[in-house]
Amino acid sequence: MTELKNKIEQLYESNASITEFDIEPIQHELISNLNIGKIRAAEKHNGIWKVNEWVKKGILLMFKYGKLKDWSMENGFTYFDKNTLPVHPFTLEDSVRIVPGGSSVRTGSFIAKGVICMPPMYINIGAYIDENTMIDSHALVGTCAQIGKGVHLSAASQIGGVLEPPGARPVIVEDDVMIGGNCGVYEGVLIRKRAVLGSGVIINSSTRVYDIVNEKILRADNGLPLEIPESAVVIPGARSIHTEFAKENGLSVSTAIIVKYRDEKTDARTAIEQALR
Ligand SMILES: CC(C)(COP(=O)(O)OP(=O)(O)OC[C@H]1O[C@@H](n2cnc3c(N)ncnc32)[C@H](O)[C@@H]1OP(=O)(O)O)[C@@H](O)C(=O)NCCC(=O)NCCS
Repeated sequence: MTELKNKIEQLYESNASITEFDIEPIQHELISNLNIGKIRAAEKHNGIWKVNEWVKKGILLMFKYGKLKDWSMENGFTYFDKNTLPVHPFTLEDSVRIVPGGSSVRTGSFIAKGVICMPPMYINIGAYIDENTMIDSHALVGTCAQIGKGVHLSAASQIGGVLEPPGARPVIVEDDVMIGGNCGVYEGVLIRKRAVLGSGVIINSSTRVYDIVNEKILRADNGLPLEIPESAVVIPGARSIHTEFAKENGLSVSTAIIVKYRDEKTDARTAIEQALR
């Protein structure tokens, strides 16, 4: 992959005028390797997540230099997108269930065996979704998001995309996490394995998370986005604002609260319905 990496870095830094003919040689290699999960926008080494900046730069090149193309099919289905960004190619052997009805999976994303995609849902370029994850209706897996094994992305949960700057960490959701209905996870937040976001939790890198079990406040730190600890059960909360004006008007801002760490009751509430798989 070193050669591909070097070519992408060169093109990305180049001030010369770049055309689709410069992009073509890297397009196939980049997209096909993203499609099979051989390259990823971020990877875990010895417990630490590292961003592969060159992969994100490659994706940015696809957006920037792709030309609008008519991808319409003879059966009357019409759509128009950049020539560098068609839909993901699937075959029956991929063992991915895509229930019909308004879902779309952009090429340059990896969807492992056993993943279930309920309509309508959308998976963007650079996303990596590991085995047996469920993506429920109205869920979004944004650009470069890294989703682990056995994750449940409930209905209307939004996993934000992080493409720029190329060095910025994407949103990462580790194995066996449950993201409840109507949750939103943005700006490179990392959800460690087996954590649970109760319905309606919205977090980004500005959100303060109050861990009432360990009596700690968690925040983004040292340039690293917010991290939710392993097995934490997070619910939506509010904290009061202490300025005179805010006090007079009884104002508060939303926050997130770690109310407990996973126990048998949580496991029972979040158990994956095997019958549906
Ligand atoms: C978090 C969740 C899994 C419950 O886990 P649990 O371990 O059984 O937690 P408990 O029910 O014991 O709740 C612990 C405390 O948090 C509160 N709480 C839990 N979830 C909450 C939520 N989403 N909003 C507000 N409070 C919540 C409970 O009221 C309880 O407070 P209390 O101790 O003062 O009574 C569940 O509340 C939840 O949000 N599930 C997701 C459901 C969902 O979105 N499904 C998707 C369908 S598509």
